[in-house]
Amino acid sequence: MRVIFNTLTLFFFLYSINGEITNDRYYPMYHAAPPFGWMNDPNGFARFKSEYHLFYQYNPDSSLVPGTAAWGHMKSSDLVHWQHLPIAMYPNNTYDRSGVFSGSALIEDGKMYLYYTAHINHPGETPDHEENQALAISEDGVNVVKYENNPIIPGTGRQPDIRDPKVWKHGDTYYLVLGNKFKRNGTELGRVLLYASKDKYTWEEKAILDESDGWLGYMWECPDFFQLGGYFVLLFSPQGVKPEGDKYRNLYQCGYIVGRFDYKTLKFTPVTEFQELDHGHDFYATQSILDDKKRRLVIAWLDMWETNYPEQNDGFTGQMTLPRILTLTKDLRLLQRPVPEIRAARADVICTGQASGGTSVTLANKAGEVNIRASASNDLELFIEGETASVVIYYDATNGQISLDRGGEDGLRRTEWRPKYLLKITIYIDASSIEVFCGDGQVTFSSRYFTNGPVSVRLGDSSKVEQFRVINMKRTVPIN
Ligand code: FRU
Repeated sequence: MRVIFNTLTLFFFLYSINGEITNDRYYPMYHAAPPFGWMNDPNGFARFKSEYHLFYQYNPDSSLVPGTAAWGHMKSSDLVHWQHLPIAMYPNNTYDRSGVFSGSALIEDGKMYLYYTAHINHPGETPDHEENQALAISEDGVNVVKYENNPIIPGTGRQPDIRDPKVWKHGDTYYLVLGNKFKRNGTELGRVLLYASKDKYTWEEKAILDESDGWLGYMWECPDFFQLGGYFVLLFSPQGVKPEGDKYRNLYQCGYIVGRFDYKTLKFTPVTEFQELDHGHDFYATQSILDDKKRRLVIAWLDMWETNYPEQNDGFTGQMTLPRILTLTKDLRLLQRPVPEIRAARADVICTGQASGGTSVTLANKAGEVNIRASASNDLELFIEGETASVVIYYDATNGQISLDRGGEDGLRRTEWRPKYLLKITIYIDASSIEVFCGDGQVTFSSRYFTNGPVSVRLGDSSKVEQFRVINMKRTVPIN
């Protein structure tokens, strides 16, 4: 009896530390985040019965470690106001006992078909894990039932890293892509495999969509493949790309290759090199959908593996980027614009009009939107300052570069950007993140930063701005 009592007390004690946000200083006001616990990749992003659903890799037991991943779940009617829903899937079957890993959703006949990776660890064995693909179905968008004959795509044993199914339908056929690691002449390389099915349950491997030549890394995670602007985009998160100057500076990358694809031959022919999608420190494991407005929306984990997570002592870890609309330019680059629905998170305008160097505004709750319009022929410097950390955004007109520097070791991220006449920058500041959108979305930076105390936005001394608008943002993500 005493043993039971002690175990129960310990359980409730642990639950109460881990089951709530103990300090809200870093908890996002309007970026999707878990109610508590650890969150990584977005999963099963979908539009279902007039609402957006977002699942995510989730450890409800602790914000300190990814743990054994479950699928957390939230929904929204506008991509801005999020509501937490019960955990959708637990790693509680023999075949997914070490993690219900990342995957995606197919909506058909009023049902959600959720494809995911069933991960199993085999400690001390070679290989030390296996990955099979599994299916779960939801009829009401809340209760999720795993398919009785799982797994539906068995791993071969040869290639233990094979995961993150992204599913879609074209004509009368279903397709999915998987990220995979394979070996050639002893070298590990990443690739994307294409599968097809006529019934959603029985799948056949059909093609290798693309693979690393070594330079593009040893493993490709979270692949996505979709048509856009007359081309096809292969979007994925390669691991093992080495830094080159200002490029590929994060531990892992996230980027895309544009090409042509023929559904008859299932051959993907790249026409561009790999390009990074975002230039900040924290952008990984994207997932896109085509919504009911025929917009190609993308969302990413606004975070990175193996880094510092200062928020984890406050009861949560991880947040998502704002959902963005993707379009393709004539020169085959992806533009990213925040969904216009984000305006619903605006509160009061605290500053608007022309502004010169030294202008400074303090945000009400560390959360704001900043719109800048200036001449592209002058430099611009903007400081986002808190008590214990600050971020500098710097546009260098002479060299045609834009940078974000969050200070500390490896604080600088920089890339080329040469706007013609108008310098147009929009910045979303939240309690522990900054998203910068340059021009029409030619360049974006997504980075976390952690400061205590109030946050101010200040124009550098020699900066001159035609239009400087700062808006407080309100809470659209509930905090418990
Ligand atoms: C990407 C990833 C996926 C995997 C998941 C596990 O961040 O490593 O490849 O399915 O996270 O949580």
